[in-house]
Amino acid sequence: MTFDLVIRGGTIATASDVTKADLGIREGRIVAIADRIAGGERVIDATGRLVLPGGIDAHCHLDQPQAPGLAAKGAKMADGFCSGSISAAFGGTTTIVPFCVQHRGESLTAAVADYHRRADGQSVTDYAFHLIVSDPTPAVLGQELPALIRRGHTSIKVYMTYDAMQLSDRQILDVFETARAEKAVMLIHAENHEIIGWLADRLEQQGKTRPAFHATSRPLAVEREATHRAVTLAEIAGVPLVIVHVSGGEPLEEIRRARARGHVVIAETCPQYLLLTEADLDMPDMLGAKAMCSPPPRDTAAQAALWRGIEDGTIDIFNSDHAPYRFDAEGKLKAGPDASFRAVANGIPGLETRLPILFSEGVVKGRIDLSRFVALTATNNAKLYGLHPRKGTIAVGADADIAIWDPEKRVTITNDLLHHNVDYTPFEGLEVQGWPETVISRGEVIIENQELKARPGRGQFLEQQTSSAWRTREINAWI
Ligand code: URP
Ligand code: ZN
Ligand code: ZN
Ligand code: ZN
Repeated sequence: MTFDLVIRGGTIATASDVTKADLGIREGRIVAIADRIAGGERVIDATGRLVLPGGIDAHCHLDQPQAPGLAAKGAKMADGFCSGSISAAFGGTTTIVPFCVQHRGESLTAAVADYHRRADGQSVTDYAFHLIVSDPTPAVLGQELPALIRRGHTSIKVYMTYDAMQLSDRQILDVFETARAEKAVMLIHAENHEIIGWLADRLEQQGKTRPAFHATSRPLAVEREATHRAVTLAEIAGVPLVIVHVSGGEPLEEIRRARARGHVVIAETCPQYLLLTEADLDMPDMLGAKAMCSPPPRDTAAQAALWRGIEDGTIDIFNSDHAPYRFDAEGKLKAGPDASFRAVANGIPGLETRLPILFSEGVVKGRIDLSRFVALTATNNAKLYGLHPRKGTIAVGADADIAIWDPEKRVTITNDLLHHNVDYTPFEGLEVQGWPETVISRGEVIIENQELKARPGRGQFLEQQTSSAWRTREINAWI
């Protein structure tokens, strides 16, 4: 057998096994895994290195057009598919799944066509995209959404908050009903919109408008209540549900209870909820805006609860929620340097730092093992979003999407090191151990020696299959 590429002498980790073996790659796919593979047009010596499936970041926002009339008026995303995918690749991620948003009054089909144009010829990694439905008209529910699901967009997100995107419980049930009929998986942003609005009004009346009050306006109870309501709606409609960006123990308890009742509910968390706290929003001037995301980071008890959820299997996916707003007048400070927290764009960047942070804080610190790391960051996302077994694992027949890690390398995260177009990282100064050094997508080396080796535009759009969450009625037997 001849191989285009052989990766020799490394330690291969999948979601189930860790083994020493060589990998043989031909025409973009893994074709051999064996003790010793001879030959190879090109050979990479991976002695002392970890050979992991390339990461899948299934929650990121790239080039997302903003809804007209949103409170954070006109803040622009600094990363599109080109810089976003490059940044992802430098951080060991080989597949990205950002969101295509439908704004109110807009056709969903038109939004998808527009988003394909934004992605076309830009990405260095492969990509799929989730759909965000914010206007579930009869045409969207009856025709557009079913047709798009059949064309490979099998995951759909809805929002319970944000003026421009929020759906009523009744509208959410309508979308869930279509998702059930077409076997799509639903994602939900769970925060109680009415409570947030009420609290934010009170805070503003008292002149409490600094970024720190963003957290005060969205306490954990707001997320707990919405999570309970979201799983109830999913239970009524009979759809599997992903609760994205879970920020603490109380919403996690709601998820555990729903699972105990027999419902397929999947929990996601993100690096910011493990590493930041409310205190990061309480900084001089507007600096706290750098840590402003929704839900907000909480406290050390919430961090500990999330680690328990990661350890006990309640949390199954780990994504960045990369929201690339710069800390300048283009992004966070668009509404001015004294703007109320309500006018500051929500979200923080993190495509490139997601994997090194979980590797260092999770694997190196002994909280999770290597297989669980791979499951959380690649395999489970692939299964959940209909990309497995092509993506998310190392197996004969799978795409050769691989990140070769130096598990000893120590890095102090600074924004200078990163490749996104955002002018800050909320993880500035964080020391991590372990970094991806060679990154391969469909057999092509795309990152090597800290350089980009591939051409933007090589990345392919991936049609998603039906989520494995639909393949079982067994509670959480989906992974
Ligand atoms: O604050 C956040 N998370 N912004 C990004 C959009 C979202 O809600 O996921
Ligand atoms: Zn499409
Ligand atoms: Zn969200
Ligand atoms: Zn998000």
